[in-house]
Amino acid sequence: MSSIAFIGGGNMASCIIGGMVANGFDPLQIRVGTPSQSTRDRLSETTGTTSMADNHAAVAQADTVVLAVKPKIMRQVVEDLAPALSHKPIIISVAAGIPVAALKQWLGSEMPVIRAMPNTPSMVQAGATGLFTQSDLTTEQRSLVDKIFQAIGYSCWVSREELIDAVIAVSGSGPAYFFLVLEAMQNVAQELGLPEQIAEELSLHTALGASRMAMESGISAAELRDQVTSPGGTTQAAIQSFQQHGLEDIFRSAMTSAVARAQEMSKDFSS
Ligand SMILES: NC(=O)c1ccc[n+]([C@@H]2O[C@H](COP(=O)([O-])OP(=O)(O)OC[C@H]3O[C@@H](n4cnc5c(N)ncnc54)[C@H](OP(=O)(O)O)[C@@H]3O)[C@@H](O)[C@H]2O)c1
Repeated sequence: MSSIAFIGGGNMASCIIGGMVANGFDPLQIRVGTPSQSTRDRLSETTGTTSMADNHAAVAQADTVVLAVKPKIMRQVVEDLAPALSHKPIIISVAAGIPVAALKQWLGSEMPVIRAMPNTPSMVQAGATGLFTQSDLTTEQRSLVDKIFQAIGYSCWVSREELIDAVIAVSGSGPAYFFLVLEAMQNVAQELGLPEQIAEELSLHTALGASRMAMESGISAAELRDQVTSPGGTTQAAIQSFQQHGLEDIFRSAMTSAVARAQEMSKDFSS
């Protein structure tokens, strides 16, 4: 049975560990290094995993180490941890914006390093994670990484590290785009006279239904839209208005801004 250590027991680590335990990982194979007693108590109560303040002890037997601390303290945490990693476990970093080269430099010796970019819906096991590595992983190692992130939703591998910035722009920041759309729909629904609760519930169920339909039908989004847009009908009137206002250009501009910001943030860790 592989042994997995988490360094940092905060929001993202709790989501991943919660998903893992709900999907058949044994809590006994998971150890967490995290400084606060309150975080350790919460993790042991909610997941049954063993937590400790000593990061070196947490990684001592681990085949896989998931780094889940804030980017600004990652260097200090990794440099301190490096002497305890002479058994060369797989290192997975979920930190936004920290390139593989920086992690390798801080680790100081060669071991497999993976960047993972999960998103917030991981909290309800409906996350989407992009993964990247330039290390040669064995089939077992790759499938363990897949299993960890599939425990919190969907996961995929990208072939070049720059594509992690695209993943950030699509799925990392993406939940907020949909929250913004929901907020706009709910506000306008109320302006059209619907009570607040109905405006909220109709918008939410529509988002869920459209998303499930797109996932389960195997039909492309463009084709689905076409199917529900009768000529001269209400949907066509709305879609035409979106297109006249340049909806796709709005997304292009927003998502390229997200990529540019991700690139800028990575530069802080690239020297
Ligand atoms: N939240 C997200 O949606 C999301 C999405 C993608 C990526 N990420 C990445 O996930 C990472 C963690 O983010 P988060 O949202 O989970 O932050 P968080 O809730 O603040 O968790 C960070 C944890 O780090 C722990 N910590 C602080 N110093 C430590 C040390 N020296 N050794 C070990 N642990 C230490 C803290 O422990 P105590 O609680 O014990 O004090 C805290 O629980 C970040 O790098 C972020 O970029 C997060």
